[in-house]
Parts: sequence; C-alpha cells; structure tokens
Amino acid sequence: MKRLLVSSIHLDKSSTLSAIRVNGGTAEQRRRKMPPPPPRVCVTGGGGFIASWLVKLLLSRGYVVHATLRDPSDPKNAHLMQLDKAPGNLHLFKADVLDYDTLTPAVEGCEGVFHLATPVPEDKSEVMDAAVKGTLNVLKVCSAAKIHKVVVLSSVAAVDFDPNSPQDKLKDESCWSDKEFCKENGDWYSVAKITAEEVALEYADKTGLNVVTVCPPLVFGPLLQPTVNTSSKFLIYVIKGGPDAMSNRLWPIVDVRDVADALLLLYEKKESLGRYICSPNQVYTKDLVDLLKKMHPEYNYVNKIIDADPKAPLTSKKLVDLGWVPRKLEETLADSIECYEKAGLLQDVAGRPFRLPQLYRLAGDQ
Ligand SMILES: NC(=O)c1ccc[n+]([C@@H]2O[C@H](COP(=O)([O-])OP(=O)(O)OC[C@H]3O[C@@H](n4cnc5c(N)ncnc54)[C@H](OP(=O)(O)O)[C@@H]3O)[C@@H](O)[C@H]2O)c1
Repeated sequence: MKRLLVSSIHLDKSSTLSAIRVNGGTAEQRRRKMPPPPPRVCVTGGGGFIASWLVKLLLSRGYVVHATLRDPSDPKNAHLMQLDKAPGNLHLFKADVLDYDTLTPAVEGCEGVFHLATPVPEDKSEVMDAAVKGTLNVLKVCSAAKIHKVVVLSSVAAVDFDPNSPQDKLKDESCWSDKEFCKENGDWYSVAKITAEEVALEYADKTGLNVVTVCPPLVFGPLLQPTVNTSSKFLIYVIKGGPDAMSNRLWPIVDVRDVADALLLLYEKKESLGRYICSPNQVYTKDLVDLLKKMHPEYNYVNKIIDADPKAPLTSKKLVDLGWVPRKLEETLADSIECYEKAGLLQDVAGRPFRLPQLYRLAGDQ
C-alpha cells in the first residue's frame, strides 16, 4: 500500500508535464532536444481478464499506464506488477467507477483512457449502475482532464440481440440490439451494455469528446489474472461438460489478445470513429465441440445440445479495414486449454459439477 502512495505522489509531478505536451513534447523539451516523455494512458478495471492483456500490451509498446482497481491490495490483482516493465511504468490507483472523485487522480496527466471496468455477472443480474453511471463518470472525468481519446469497451450484446433482424444479412455497426426484447428476457447485462454504449456515443456527440466504442463477442484466451472470468467459464464448461443444456446457436468468438490489439489500434489510429465490431470467428456449439474434440479427445465435453434457430453472423470489416489482424480460432482454443490445464481448471472437483454461467444458458432461445 505504501508503494502505491509513493507512486501516486510521483505521478502528480509528472502529470503536469504530460498535460501540457503538444505534438511530441513541450516547447521546452523540443528546444533542448529532450526526448518527449512516454505516452501516458489510463485503463479502468485494470485487473480484469481483457484489461490485464491490454495493460501488458501497452507496457510492451512503451506506454506509461495508470490502471484503476477497486482494491489494489487484493491478491487477485498481484499479477499486474509482475508484467514486463510494470515496475516504473505501471501505476495503480484505487478507484470505483461509481465514485467520480476517485477517478480524477487516475485520469489526470493522461492523454488517453480505455474504459473497461464493468462487472460481467455469471447470472443475469442488474449491472445498470456500474455500466451506465460508471461510463458517464469516466467520460465526465475525461472531459475535465482534456483527454484526447477515450476507447470504451462495449459488447456485441449491444449489437446482436434483435429478433427482427434479417437472417440473411451480415450484422455490422449499424445494428443495435433491441433493448425491450432483452428486458423481456431478463437479460439485464445486455440492457446495461446497450444503454452504456448509447450513452457514451451520445455524450461524445454532445460534448465533442473523442470516443470510440468496441464490441467484442465471447472472449476466450489465456488468463493473466489468477481468478476465472465469466466468458472463460463458458469455454471451461464446454470442455468439461456438466448438467446444463446448451443451445446449438452460432457463437461469435474473439481472442483476448486480439481484443487488446483492437483497443490499441483504435486508440492509435487518428481516423477511428464511432463503433467497431471485433468478432472474427462464428461457430455453432456442436461444431465448437467437434473442433475441440479433435484437438483434445480426452475431455468429457458438453453433451446436451438443443437445436436453435440460425442467426445472421457479424462482420468485423470496419476494424479489419483499419489493419486489425485477428488470430485463428484454433490458436485461441489451443492456448486457452494449455492455460486452463496449467492452472488445474479442467480437473473435476468431487461432488461439485461445473456449471455453465447462467448468462449463457440457452441463450440461443433468445
Ligand atoms: N469477456 C467477454 O466475453 C466480454 C465480451 C464483451 C464485452 N466484454 C466487456 O469487457 C469488459 C471487461 O470484461 P472482462 O471479461 O475482462 O471481465 P472481468 O475480468 O470480470 O473484468 C471486469 C472488471 O470490471 C471491474 N469493475 C466492476 N465493477 C467496477 C466498479 N464499480 N468500479 C471499478 N471497476 C469495476 C472489475 O474490478 P473488480 O475486480 O474490482 O471487481 C474487473 O476488473 C467489460 O466491460 C465487459 O462488459 C467482455
């Protein structure tokens, strides 16, 4: 805890410096031919599954990173300081997105902000406040701190759930999920993600803050953090099998490392604008199981798979046209399984069957 305080004090001094940077450093730095200080960005919810990979990527590219955490002393966040270049270039800030004042010190002195902090519940519980008020708080702090660009992590939950969309047309960024339909299904996570993305884009329109949103589907891949996040539990359930039936729906899937690449690409590309789907793979549950079985025949796999209506796939063309090159699904699955095996996550616990997170149960019926 002491260490955190020291690093925050150090930040207060240097943040003044980066706040007055103009194109490659201050006038004084250019006159003295000093190299400009490294770019400085903030990542909210820095200890999460996707955020940890983003922090790792940013550090590897020479960024100084301010990561917000609700509890920096929680052992579940200890992996962050073990990342390459973390000592010196990673600064941890205790902040809750529901508390505006806690966000200010984390964002001050930064040029850009990546807003990732939103709970991803295992069930369909309410996350409206954290998603919507949290996003608005982050954006208001960004306006006050004159942030150049904010990349907000939304979800295909804000794109894909519309029962009236045509089956034979690719879904692109012009598509929005039907909020009333999600409410009728008790899908509160999707309602929160749709509303948070709408609010973020409206705020950008109204204030002129430069905001880009990114919509990933199910995210798999190796875990950097010691806890298991909700989307990784989906894949672990498919591999281990258990009492819950799954629908044979078309699952859009992306690698966590490709989401981190997409976030940074959109931040760095001046021309990025609006929303971006990052969903390179789409596979039916049965085909996913067959693919996994070919790679690893030794596991049980989910065996209750119920037919579901076909759905139109998503396109990531807008992001690919900017230069995004995602991995193949096979690589994501192989690396995920290797990570789960090393962490002992595929072993059975006697008397405790693994369950599919409720968020994904029979989602194909939606
Ligand atoms: N994983 C996916 O399949 C997927 C797909 C599409 C979109 N997304 C989006 O990606 C983002 C990250 O998800 P993830 O999969 O990486 O989940 P995760 O590992 O559970 O991370 C969620 C993060 O949000 C933080 N958080 C929650 N409530 C907060 C609050 N009130 N204030 C500050 N931080 C808070 C959590 O911090 P604590 O540790 O303190 O709880 C955690 O670091 C979310 O916005 C999610 O909606 C994820």
